[in-house]
Amino acid sequence: MNNRLWPVVLMVVCATIPAFAAAADGGDVFAQNCLACHGSGGEGIENLGANLRDSAFVRDTAAAALVEFLRVGRFPDDPASATGRPMPGFGWLTDGELEAVAAFIKSRSSAP
Ligand code: HEC
Repeated sequence: MNNRLWPVVLMVVCATIPAFAAAADGGDVFAQNCLACHGSGGEGIENLGANLRDSAFVRDTAAAALVEFLRVGRFPDDPASATGRPMPGFGWLTDGELEAVAAFIKSRSSAP
């Protein structure tokens, strides 16, 4: 390849990678990070993770606030702790991944 084309190729590659990251699929993020405790359908697993489908918290919390919740989690010493079990924080996920998974669990909510 012509040597002068390399910077152009590099620019295109660098510009494309964040675009892929932003298009995180909420279902994939859930399967990779949440399913083990909350079950494949968000129905909850006894002694591991709460039922998210029936959760009024998921239904009533705005997506942006849910993202903030997911960043820090909820630990047993939190007065809001419902089960006395830890919900880990996911501060290491990207904003795009957190927004996608928050939208995903809200879309699956069937809380009355
Ligand atoms: C290690 C197990 C574990 C993992 C992994 C986990 N959770 Fe949790 N989660 C819990 C537990 C336990 C609770 C209940 C905390 C409590 O008692 O208040 C909970 C609570 C929640 C709540 C609050 C529900 C309510 O009604 O108050 C939401 C929302 C939630 N998790 C979403 C997620 C999402 C999204 C992921 C993946 C990014 C995830 N969790 C990963 C264990 C887990």
